[in-house]
Amino acid sequence: MKSTHISKRIPNELLSRLSDFININIGLYFPKDRWLDLLRGIRSAMPDFGFDDLEEGIRWLLSNPLKQKQIEVLACHLTVGETYFFREPKTFEALEKHILPKLIRTRWQNQKRIRVWSAGCCTGEEAYSMAILLSRLIHDIQDWNITILATDINPIFLKKAQDGIYREWSFRGTPFWLKEQYFRDRGNGFYEILPQFKRMIKFQYLNLVEDTFPSIYNDTNAMDLIFCRNVLMYFSTKQVEKTISRFHQSLLDEGWLVTASSETSHIFYSQYITVNFPGTILYKKGTYEAQGYTRIEDGYSDSASHLHEDEDIVHFPMITPVKISSHQVSEPQEKQASFVEEPEVTADNNEEVIEQLFQEALLTYNQGNYIKTIDLILGSIVQCESYPKMMTLLAKAYANRGELNHALTWCEKALKEDKLNPAFHHLHAVILQEQGEHDKAVHALRRALYLNPDFVLPYFMLGTLQRQHGKLVEADKYFENALNILNNYEQDDVLPESEGMTAGRMYELIRVTMNKEMPA
Ligand SMILES: C[S@@+](CC[C@H](N)C(=O)[O-])C[C@H]1O[C@@H](n2cnc3c(N)ncnc32)[C@H](O)[C@@H]1O
Repeated sequence: MKSTHISKRIPNELLSRLSDFININIGLYFPKDRWLDLLRGIRSAMPDFGFDDLEEGIRWLLSNPLKQKQIEVLACHLTVGETYFFREPKTFEALEKHILPKLIRTRWQNQKRIRVWSAGCCTGEEAYSMAILLSRLIHDIQDWNITILATDINPIFLKKAQDGIYREWSFRGTPFWLKEQYFRDRGNGFYEILPQFKRMIKFQYLNLVEDTFPSIYNDTNAMDLIFCRNVLMYFSTKQVEKTISRFHQSLLDEGWLVTASSETSHIFYSQYITVNFPGTILYKKGTYEAQGYTRIEDGYSDSASHLHEDEDIVHFPMITPVKISSHQVSEPQEKQASFVEEPEVTADNNEEVIEQLFQEALLTYNQGNYIKTIDLILGSIVQCESYPKMMTLLAKAYANRGELNHALTWCEKALKEDKLNPAFHHLHAVILQEQGEHDKAVHALRRALYLNPDFVLPYFMLGTLQRQHGKLVEADKYFENALNILNNYEQDDVLPESEGMTAGRMYELIRVTMNKEMPA
């Protein structure tokens, strides 16, 4: 212990700084009337940091930028871990009866692919509930490419989620068949989810207030459905807005954001369409006009229900009446701006124009405006065919929109131009994997490593893929290789070709996946 002082009253100024600090780093919001809760959590975290004097420990915490391990410790002491299977049944009913049948019908005809993210998954009950629901609804599920990503900031919760062993309390209010059909009785009141459902879920560390999503490299892109329930209620307004807006970028057009009933707010979700189902409200990505909804001033409208027969009532409080006529359905912004003169491209300025276009497209990509990225590149007079980095940007934009065939085409065109680029092979693997082409993805990853044996991301992905296929020994070998390479980086170094992922975060991802202790 660094000190053995008996703790005294903590000055308000210090508590106020601590509260801001926690909010910035973890999102959790502790206003003055919750400072006692904050202190309780921080006090219990102090022994892990090696302090027993609370004030001294807080001052030490505030004086350094937080490291990954410290965020993890704080998360373990400050987050709330309350969850259970099929929580808020009305929400699952809306999914079962309205949203999923429609989605499954659409996807059954073409790509047989569904992507779900449980953000703030806690001990996994929400993600497993979705795995069970999907398997009940899709009879040929083995032929589908289903992704269920489940993320949390608290590694203790993630470990429990991965173990998939639950007590009676997690089943409160659920029907009797749930335990009987989907769990194995381990005795002493413990039940373990069947392995085929464990295999459906990818558990991963992710701090929602860090700028790490959407990204095709951590699978947080092109989502059909994002659950973020009973998480944002603990965040500050600013962090809620930021997170919801990032979810918007992570969702496909017409994708759904699922929140808890206590978290519905027409102000926060103004980017989304608010849709009422019996007993629950869900949020859909898109604009009212584009999806044929009409707006009314107060209350409810089902005037567009013939267009959306699966959705019950559309709820638009606070929006002034708008009559939609055909000329009001606005053209996409980029088309409206088409009067801007294009520069004349000559041999002399070609490189410059291309770089400028690339930077512009990259900016829209980073803002999550993938349609604009695609339009900018394809609509330009510059022929992007000879510029591999432009083509891979295009491939990533398509991948983020879930248009995997286009993504693959452009990635393969880029590879034709630059066969020796390990990053392109890695991107190739990511797209192939999203298409369910496991063996081809592994092949592409091995190529990336052959070209650059110090490239961390392919090792990580190979480890994850082997793990998902039950090959734990092989998986650990790949993870160990990744950890060895990570030793050459500082925690805050951004890893090459990772869309901003730091070495520290990658270390954490691997550690949580392997259930390994982190060195102090
Ligand atoms: C009350 S649980 C909700 C579990 C589940 N979604 C549900 O509704 O039953 C809240 C979860 O949010 C997680 N959480 C809190 N802050 C987070 C952050 N900044 N990033 C990711 N997860 C966070 C906590 O660790 C906890 O597991």
